[in-house]
Amino acid sequence: MLNEKAMRTAPTKRPEKILVRKPQWTFKELVGQKPRSEFGRLLFGAMSLVFPEGERFFIRSVKQFASQIDDTALGQDIKDFIGQEAQHGKVHETFNKAVLGHDYDIEPFLKWYKSTMFDFVEQKATEILGPKLALSITAAAEHFTATWAAHGLSSGYLEEHITNQNMLDFMQWHAVEEIEHKHVAFDVLQQIDDSYALRAAGMLFCAALLPFVISVAFVSLVRQAKNTDIFAFFRDALSEGANGGIASSFLPAIVEYLKPGFHPSDHDDYEMARRVAQGIEQRMEKVA
Ligand SMILES: [Fe+2]
Ligand SMILES: [Fe+2]
Repeated sequence: MLNEKAMRTAPTKRPEKILVRKPQWTFKELVGQKPRSEFGRLLFGAMSLVFPEGERFFIRSVKQFASQIDDTALGQDIKDFIGQEAQHGKVHETFNKAVLGHDYDIEPFLKWYKSTMFDFVEQKATEILGPKLALSITAAAEHFTATWAAHGLSSGYLEEHITNQNMLDFMQWHAVEEIEHKHVAFDVLQQIDDSYALRAAGMLFCAALLPFVISVAFVSLVRQAKNTDIFAFFRDALSEGANGGIASSFLPAIVEYLKPGFHPSDHDDYEMARRVAQGIEQRMEKVA
């Protein structure tokens, strides 16, 4: 039997604290505005459409095991993880309705997404394979969001492409918090069932479903795009790919997660997240 805990050579770090921030962005200044990159807008828009319902799934999948966790620190982390993900869903929904909803009909995708992926796939998979699979899928999904977050904060790509300060803060705020809570679902999974096969199964499901739903959301937006400069669209797509963005970091993230002994906190990007958070928190104070 594979003993992953024994394979971990160094103690994994944790953030100083998981802070539930409550930003008040309305995004009114972005309504009807043309972004610098149409491709970037639609890719982020697709992810933003996927996040709220997905984050409600993450919360459900962790919450159902919360009462079985004896570790007081992890118990608190679960509460803060839920607090952060609930805020992410709320703010992305505000953005989706105000900004995306102004230019695109987002309801058909959202309806399809909820009824297919959660009312059907989640229900059936839980019935057949048990509730631990959802927790394992969440642990894997959190590895993708933390990987993309670390890339987003370290590459300089967001600062280069996003001209609106609230929009930049919005993206970086979500990235900071994905880093802060990246260990939570993973540690809950390890305490509930530390089987490597279960962890790997969660990654396989997630690696199939996540790109699929983001692609469906992306296509639903692209189909409605008007007056798009096709040349600029493909140039931006290539630049996003070449930049080590979400598509090109996808396979390496899977390989890393499947390494026996892996732990999300092995990547110590907490200091970077804390530095970015300070600026955002100062600006949030002025808005509140
Ligand atoms: Fe999130
Ligand atoms: Fe998350």
